Amino acid sequence: MAKTVVVIGSAWGDEGKGKITNYLSKQADLVVRYSGGDNAGHTIVLDDAVYKLHIVPSGIFDPNTKNILGNGCVVNPKALLEEIEALKKAGFSCDNLYISDRANVLFDYHKILDGLKEERLGARCIGTTKKGIGPCYTDKMARDGIRMCDFISPDFKDILKETLIIKNDELTHFGASPIDFDSFYEEYQAIADKIRPLVCDTVTLINEEINKGKKVLFEGAQGTLLDIDFGTYPFVTSSNPTAGGVCTGTGVGPTKIKEVIGIVKAYTTRVGSGPLPTEFNDEISQDIRDRAHEYGATTKRARRIGWLDCAILSYSVNINGMTGIALTLLDIFTGYKKIKICDYYTLDGKVLKAPCAKIEDFARCKPHFIEMDGWEEDITKVTSYDELPENTKKYIEKVEELTGVPVVIFSVGPDTKQTIIRKELY
Ligand code: GDP
Ligand code: IMO
Ligand code: MG
Repeated sequence: MAKTVVVIGSAWGDEGKGKITNYLSKQADLVVRYSGGDNAGHTIVLDDAVYKLHIVPSGIFDPNTKNILGNGCVVNPKALLEEIEALKKAGFSCDNLYISDRANVLFDYHKILDGLKEERLGARCIGTTKKGIGPCYTDKMARDGIRMCDFISPDFKDILKETLIIKNDELTHFGASPIDFDSFYEEYQAIADKIRPLVCDTVTLINEEINKGKKVLFEGAQGTLLDIDFGTYPFVTSSNPTAGGVCTGTGVGPTKIKEVIGIVKAYTTRVGSGPLPTEFNDEISQDIRDRAHEYGATTKRARRIGWLDCAILSYSVNINGMTGIALTLLDIFTGYKKIKICDYYTLDGKVLKAPCAKIEDFARCKPHFIEMDGWEEDITKVTSYDELPENTKKYIEKVEELTGVPVVIFSVGPDTKQTIIRKELY
């Protein structure tokens, strides 16, 4: 069997995917992003240095690991070059970065349109990251997108000219100024020249490596409840961050996927609009926000806090075919007398074990909670499961019981070193 592992966000993002991907990347030959763009914010703490990656995969710190942006990603080349520059300054060459020739390019007009659409929605806005993600995927599906292979080719000028006619129509429709072709082309042509050496046929590259028996790690961005098909539509992103997205976003067939690890926070967070059934606002939620620095890595917005939601998690287990859970941020619970877990919802007197499709119904779901005893001990220096306090073990066991999936990794602090493996994945 191919040595492939998928890391996915089990809820609304920010579960610690960057940290766990970075930890596992030490064993991997390839780290591949398969969906989303620079709307992601993945935090990696290596020996006290904090890195926030938005579009570059989290295996970039090891020069021997190939880092790939798959065809399913939307790539803002300006944001990418900025991130590469910052990483180079920090001493990482980025010579190990590859971009799919089939990935769609995200331009400034996508960002402008994202902002304009949000403004028009007013109070009903999605609360996007305003990185242009929705408009770029819209263009991809409408076949108005520009792909990397065209961006770096001599045809770029003609393709951009055609595209800008459509985009300027859209911009002026919203009351914005049209884009001047000449200066826009000049700016992006210079960027294309810098990006060109990174662009290649990643479908062949990844499949060849898999066929050679290499270890591949697929790094999810966003989360299952932000998935365009399975998330809390319309308060979602515009891609498929779920495990199915790996196949369409990289060109690797489903029979080649071995493990799917769901990253699960000990509690739940959400940024942006839309229902969060287990949300609570009291001194504990504010304490969690402060202790865990729950402010968006991309937009700096305060993240909303809820208790762990196993109705959501069980749904996520099904959708992703999760084989294991990585439970993160357990250390944040130290010192709380009681901790809650939601096991199901009720709606109009009926029990619901998964979120309903209609957003207005989902917003009316009432969570049912199991209350568990907390623990006082500092667990940030724990190096094995056995060292954990009894009540922490009970919490982990409850998650396993409610989901039917083993907790194969747990995390007790932001540093990559504060990761404990219960089952080797490679
Ligand atoms: P991602 O988007 O899924 O990669 O997650 P983010 O990086 O946006 O948010 C996760 C936050 O939790 C970051 O600030 C991480 O440094 C931090 N983090 C990850 N795992 C742990 C952990 O086990 N304990 C603590 N205290 N912080 C963690
Ligand atoms: P990582 O990879 C948390 C949210 C936005 C908004 C919705 C749509 O760090 O977990 P978009 O800009 O994608 O059109 O916004 O999705 N969102 C995220 N929330 N973590 C993320 O990424 C997110 N990426 C997008 O806040 O609600
Ligand atoms: Mg994040």
